[in-house]
Amino acid sequence: MTANHDLAEEIRAYWSKRSETFDLAFGHHIAPGPEAAAWAEPMRLLGPAPLKVLELACGTGEVTRLVHDLGHDVTALDFAEPMLAVARAKHEGKPRLRFLHADAQRTMEPDASYDAILCRHLVWTLTEPEAAFADWFRILRPGGRLLVYDGDWTRPAPWGRWAAWVLARWKRIAPDAYYDGALSDRHAGIMRRLPFSEGLTFDRLAPLLAAAGFTGIRELPHGPIARAQRATQGLRNRLRTRVYRRFILIAWKPARKDMP
Ligand SMILES: C[S@@+](CC[C@H](N)C(=O)[O-])C[C@H]1O[C@@H](n2cnc3c(N)ncnc32)[C@H](O)[C@@H]1O
Repeated sequence: MTANHDLAEEIRAYWSKRSETFDLAFGHHIAPGPEAAAWAEPMRLLGPAPLKVLELACGTGEVTRLVHDLGHDVTALDFAEPMLAVARAKHEGKPRLRFLHADAQRTMEPDASYDAILCRHLVWTLTEPEAAFADWFRILRPGGRLLVYDGDWTRPAPWGRWAAWVLARWKRIAPDAYYDGALSDRHAGIMRRLPFSEGLTFDRLAPLLAAAGFTGIRELPHGPIARAQRATQGLRNRLRTRVYRRFILIAWKPARKDMP
């Protein structure tokens, strides 16, 4: 058994446990209205519906709702069955939506079988990013798009240190009921052993995607999402939007005529 396999199993067990309260933690549930619109805006760059879209690491199905509402034919994949169970219950009976219990790093989906792939908050936790990106490139059709929402969760951004400082003190007085110390220790133990243990940024991710064959790699602004969240949240959550550096990345697989 490899160290990577052990780590992946630990990650799966961690998210399976988190599924019980995942939607209660700030930044996971997507409020309808302006926040949902802000998350959905970059999805419009995937192309006009209906596309065949693969959502990697769908978790409890929050992003799934938005991409499905755009009229696409969605496959939502996750490797933690308890996460999928929450997502399935939320979206029961919807047409154009199937759930898939699979590894995002080895999807086993056919070559060129999707028009678009998207994921939120998956890439930072990949144990074999290069293998994953090669797989995503393989299953996208030529000209297909990849959309990634992610961030550097290893340390506060320079401008976010003051917010992190206030939140740490706040937590001592009023701990989060849904995220105890044991879960936080497990998270830190996993984070230390990940390939992106130094933090995931657009600048670190872009060359790896280029090496896998992706082109047209560019960053889209995350600010509109944070602003929409701040418009409806209380002070504690407004501070949370200030702590980490988040980014959105879009790229595509070259169309056949662009290929070398
Ligand atoms: C931070 S949660 C994000 C969930 C969802 N994308 C969202 O933004 O609400 C990370 C998710 O990635 C899933 N995950 C992590 N590694 C995975 C892998 N190799 N294959 C499939 N799912 C994975 C976990 O099970 C979990 O549901």
